Amino acid sequence: PLPEYSPAVVIGTGYGAAATALRLGEAGISTLMLEMGQLWQDPGPDGNVFCSMLKPDRRAMWFKQRTEAPLASFLWLDLANHDIDPYAGVLDRVNFGDMSVYLGRGVGGGSLVNGAMAVTPKRSYFEEILPRVDADEMYRRYFPRANAALGMNEVDRNWFETCRSYQYARVSRKSAEKAGFRTAFVPSVYDFEYLKREEAGTAERSALASEVIYGNNHGKRSLDRTYLAAALGTGRVTIQTLHEVREIIQQPDGSYTLVVRETDPYGAVLATRHVTTRHLFLGAGSLGSTELLLRARETGRLPRLPEAVGQGWGTNGNVMLGRANHAWDTTGSLQSGMPALGIDNWHDPVHPVFAEIAPVPAGLETWVSLYLAITKNRERGHFTYDPASDSAKLQWSAAQGQPSVDAAKALFDKINSANRTIYRHDLFGDTRPFENRFTYHPLGGLVLGEATDDYGRVKGYRNLYVTDGSLIPGSTGVNPFVTITALAERNIERVLAEDVRA
Ligand code: FDA
Repeated sequence: PLPEYSPAVVIGTGYGAAATALRLGEAGISTLMLEMGQLWQDPGPDGNVFCSMLKPDRRAMWFKQRTEAPLASFLWLDLANHDIDPYAGVLDRVNFGDMSVYLGRGVGGGSLVNGAMAVTPKRSYFEEILPRVDADEMYRRYFPRANAALGMNEVDRNWFETCRSYQYARVSRKSAEKAGFRTAFVPSVYDFEYLKREEAGTAERSALASEVIYGNNHGKRSLDRTYLAAALGTGRVTIQTLHEVREIIQQPDGSYTLVVRETDPYGAVLATRHVTTRHLFLGAGSLGSTELLLRARETGRLPRLPEAVGQGWGTNGNVMLGRANHAWDTTGSLQSGMPALGIDNWHDPVHPVFAEIAPVPAGLETWVSLYLAITKNRERGHFTYDPASDSAKLQWSAAQGQPSVDAAKALFDKINSANRTIYRHDLFGDTRPFENRFTYHPLGGLVLGEATDDYGRVKGYRNLYVTDGSLIPGSTGVNPFVTITALAERNIERVLAEDVRA
């Protein structure tokens, strides 16, 4: 049962939340984590905790009638998606008009569903986006700390060159190099030694069994196995699942009372409960934390919240595309679901792009090279509060996604022309070659130094903190979870010393 009081409460169990809870627990502070999703540990009827992309069931998605996979079609056929029963599944796609946001739901947040790429941003770009954060300290102390606790590892280069599961990446590398572009290896929190054993047939397959966006049954060091396991191990941290925080109320003594909705995995509300805390940490992700504070401001619960709440949101410039390979350039039927290589053209002065070479884990030859490009799109969206639905609505127009497409096109036009290849037009439901109507990397909404001070303390209120991706101003230039984790490590160290222990 939910206690009436906890000295510290962390909302969510994603990257920022998990790092924060571990450090609170280590400092001896009793900490309650509230997570609206499930704990993913019990096998379903098929013996697995998670379902695969090829045979999705209700475990795949958060209360949907049909799965909504990012590759909507193949040869214009809707092959990837299946009807499912609405259930508290692991991947959510929140649809706002011109932009849909994918996110993880469950103990571990995005770590349950993501591609495990653990990338530290280029220092010069980090300094550009967060100029008031001491980059020296970040690169010396907090990025290494985050990478170590996350279990980051690198692929064995010799194995990479000869294995079957990254043939698709080698084909993409060859075509990039032919156009004069460089590729870079991408570290991962998927255990590459395990992956090797999957290919050798000595371990049960996960990344090699088309498992990724609906969870991995093996091999992945998701937060429930790293930060959260360590947090629970302090004996000071507890996690309540299927508990969604709806409202934040401040008491006259400065403490915070949360209105929490307890549900079952079929969506029925079991109870509405209250828990009060002295120190409240928001780690519900860019959408979740921003909505909580926007609602609090707009309903008058926390009226002193600044104007910056709900501003400065971006997609990390995400755009997805596919190229058609020549018949002789087979990518293979066995493709690792965990990317290990990216095309690094971030130094381009006009169109910086870091394009992760993504798998098409269809289990058969597709002659497709797929990419998730991260571009430097300066457009920002914002959230408005909709009283009718009591929710935050993202304001982002299709036109704001165009700079991402322009940047990706500049790079891939060159790759296509050097290789005499073309774009695929059949992958995204209609004939568009570039898909920029979704993001995997929602960032911002409660930007560091604007909605909060330089350490994530919310302006206007004491003992109220933001820990997650909403602190980052819309872009990191690489996949974001290492940045989110390292920033959370930095901020909690300061907050523990100055606010909590004091
Ligand atoms: P995160 O979103 O992880 O966690 C928030 C948690 O809070 C969720 O568990 C949610 O259920 C919970 N919550 C929300 N509202 C709540 C409420 N009101 N009450 C209680 N709980 C609430 N990044 C990367 O670096 N490398 C990669 O390879 C990938 N790949 C990738 C693939 C896919 C398919 C996705 C969807 C995303 C990625 N990402 C990624 C992005 C990465 O996963 C993402 O940036 C982080 O998970 C964000 O971490 P946060 O701490 O911000 O919150």
